[in-house]
Amino acid sequence: MKPFKKWFGSKTEGDDTASRLSADNIPNHVAVIMDGNGRWAQKRSLPRVAGHHSGMKNVKKITMAANNIGVQVLTLYAFSTENWKRPKEEVEYLMKLPLEFFPKEIDELISNNVQIRMTGWKEGLPDYTLKAIQDAIDQTKHNTGLILNFALNYGSRKEMLSGVQRLVQDARDQKVNAEEIDEALFSKYLLTDPLPDPDLLIRTSGELRISNFMLWQLAYSELWFTELCWPEFTEEHFYEAVLEYQRRARRYGGL
Ligand code: FPP
Repeated sequence: MKPFKKWFGSKTEGDDTASRLSADNIPNHVAVIMDGNGRWAQKRSLPRVAGHHSGMKNVKKITMAANNIGVQVLTLYAFSTENWKRPKEEVEYLMKLPLEFFPKEIDELISNNVQIRMTGWKEGLPDYTLKAIQDAIDQTKHNTGLILNFALNYGSRKEMLSGVQRLVQDARDQKVNAEEIDEALFSKYLLTDPLPDPDLLIRTSGELRISNFMLWQLAYSELWFTELCWPEFTEEHFYEAVLEYQRRARRYGGL
């Protein structure tokens, strides 16, 4: 097993754990449920939105950590189809975060060859949110490095149902035969197509749930949970999760 040495010389937090990683078993796709922003803020007697702001700042750090070790796709669950039920002010605050995040971080993301993507329904998002994301997608579309994929206005059951509806329509239109529907074909009807399934799912804040996130795609992913809230989750913790992933033997139902 080759140890990881890519960034020695520019020491950042987590380098000691990162140096213990094996370079030939880095997860291609890491997905993260960034939970606990509200509780992080409440513990500090701050408004909930201060937790979201701090959580937004953490996105850059964890993106760079993933990029450093050669992760190819980092999907971050930023807003679910169920999150619309939150108070209007909180939803508005969350919807404005891309307007702050991308202008501030885009140059560094570009210089690190990061590509921005979004998985979720554009319908229902405010125009200003969509524009901020679409600009970032356009500005980074020729990059070839890490895909930073924001799951925004995303819910997995809705994704699967709408995939089934389109599949049934294609079968009716005789574009697809029922007999040829297999896992690979069904995956093409999901919003995540053509991304690979996550190898590792991280959820912060101590909740042990999947919360309607990539239910199909996570079928064989390794799950890693931490009590830490998202704003306090550091590069070091990210590398610890990858180290634990490397210790596990993935058997996909075999022996
Ligand atoms: C869950 O914590 C977190 C969210 C619903 C929002 C996550 C969003 C970010 C971290 C920012 C994303 C950045 C960009 C640029 C889109 P919670 O509020 O449910 O925490 P709680 O369970 O403690 O209340």
